[in-house]
Amino acid sequence: MDDLKQKYLGQIANAADEAALEDIRVTAVGKKGEVALKMRELGKMTPEERQVAGPALNALKDEINSALAAKKAALGDAALDERLRSEWLDVSLPGRTRRVGTIHPISQVTEEVTAIFGELGFASAEGPRIDTDWYNFDALNIPGHHPARAEMDTFYMHRAEGDDRAPNVLRTHTSPVQIRTMEAEGAPLRIICPGGVYRADYDQTHTPMFHQIEGLAIDKDISMANLKWVLEEFFAAFFEVDTIKTRFRASHFPFTEPSAEVDIQCSWENGTVKVGEGDDWLEVLGSGMVHPKVLQAGGIDPNDWQGFAFGMGIDRIAMLKYGIPDLRAFFDSDLRWLRHYGFASLDVPTLHGGLSR
Ligand code: DAH
Repeated sequence: MDDLKQKYLGQIANAADEAALEDIRVTAVGKKGEVALKMRELGKMTPEERQVAGPALNALKDEINSALAAKKAALGDAALDERLRSEWLDVSLPGRTRRVGTIHPISQVTEEVTAIFGELGFASAEGPRIDTDWYNFDALNIPGHHPARAEMDTFYMHRAEGDDRAPNVLRTHTSPVQIRTMEAEGAPLRIICPGGVYRADYDQTHTPMFHQIEGLAIDKDISMANLKWVLEEFFAAFFEVDTIKTRFRASHFPFTEPSAEVDIQCSWENGTVKVGEGDDWLEVLGSGMVHPKVLQAGGIDPNDWQGFAFGMGIDRIAMLKYGIPDLRAFFDSDLRWLRHYGFASLDVPTLHGGLSR
């Protein structure tokens, strides 16, 4: 019995893992194991022999079982230690900054403008970039022969042979969204419409695709005074200055009557412009009182309603605000440029949280 004990305790001590331990358990104290076989031999013994051998066998079985349990616990501890060692992590290391890209200045400025007009009660509306000739021109009081059509350098879409409808156009301005929103929502209305527009023009200050933001307010008693106030509020908030002077110059647009081009106060110093101070003026948008024919085209009765509209270049005011010298660089997708002029991706512009930093 001492031999058995030595053999199994030795094997248990050397077992490398739980599987080896289980094998030992089966051969030693399992139902058909060596100890069980010895137990069966008890029957052949004399009562005296049995009285000695019985308790001794039980004691052996207990001893092997507790050695198995102890070894199993030790193996478990060792495995846990090993795992803790391999999964160790220094949580005091500084975090890694990851480049997740930046927000393009056009997107940033669109968000800023939307936030400001949102505070003024203007909702944001969108329309398609490919539009019909009717929405882009006729509905805005620009009939077929109108010189404004030629001036716009329009991109026309292809029509299948035999299809003699007027070709669709890449919208040349965001003004068609005025008509679409009037049709969809009726009066009263207070919207801005930001988005991309297209004209066949490419030089230092023009790209074939650029961005505009349209504004439209329709109600019973809207006047040019409301337009002036809204624009001055907007420019002061956008350029993050206390007040800003505007200058309204009489102008002509087919879709407004009267029409005005609006300049903002600025100064020039060493070729850079500063907005909100000085004696110079910078043209930033076109505007006016919505032409009765335009209201009619949008399904709104000009005898009951009137309103103002304006359209300005997003790219233009982005360049002014952020001192970006070259318009064409906006659309070059140059990573170095994007990193330099881009904005942090998690800073959403709001009037309370700050438009820009
Ligand atoms: N659509 C004009 C353009 O692209 C800009 C414009 C001028 C829009 C006057 C307006 C407006 O709504 O009233 O040049």
